[in-house]
Amino acid sequence: MSEKIIISPSILSADFANLERDVKLVEENGADWIHVDVMDGHFVPNITIGVPVVKSLRKITKLPLDVHLMIENPGNYVEPFVKAGADILTFHYEAVEEKEILGLISKIKTSGIKAGISVKPKTKPDVLLPYLDIADMILIMTVEPGFGGQEFIEDCAEKIKFIRQNAPNNLIIQVDGGINAQTGKICKDFGANSLVAGSYIYRTNDVKIAIDSLK
Ligand code: DX5
Ligand code: ZN
Repeated sequence: MSEKIIISPSILSADFANLERDVKLVEENGADWIHVDVMDGHFVPNITIGVPVVKSLRKITKLPLDVHLMIENPGNYVEPFVKAGADILTFHYEAVEEKEILGLISKIKTSGIKAGISVKPKTKPDVLLPYLDIADMILIMTVEPGFGGQEFIEDCAEKIKFIRQNAPNNLIIQVDGGINAQTGKICKDFGANSLVAGSYIYRTNDVKIAIDSLK
């Protein structure tokens, strides 16, 4: 049997006026985590949601909250997101000075939650080498961060292979952007074990079939 794949539906494609309904919908249909896309209008050209929404989500789901910070100065927001109930906090490599990365990872981990580092499509995977032993997760973006519903960039998926070859066995490799059954398979074949999907899961008639098709 193949390794367990962690499916993390992105609520960016949910109906924000019915967030509880849409979180429960994926929870009841096989989601493992809930992916929360936090954008600040600076690191990416879009603004979404933040700490108060994570706090409210914490009350309505037992699933781990997988918070993807697409923001500048992520270090300033570790404590508020931890307090709000995040279980995994992923920041962008490009948003932090190199000399601060190790400190930020350990700040997140000593708060008792998992730490992830993400790279944008144009960032080379070898910049992550110093962190593979200490981070819990690497998030490979397969679209430019900022919006749901974009097309998967296959070249980015090659990075998964490099990370998997150089990583300890327990490192989670997550992929985000343009994931569906077909592109998800490409990522799994390269060694990813967590898939984020927004539009593929929320813009379907059958959420269970969509989630199952990613596993
Ligand atoms: C994009 C976000 C993604 C987004 C993915 O910047 O990080 O999580 O919701 O959406 P899809 O699955 O539609 O590409
Ligand atoms: Zn995301």
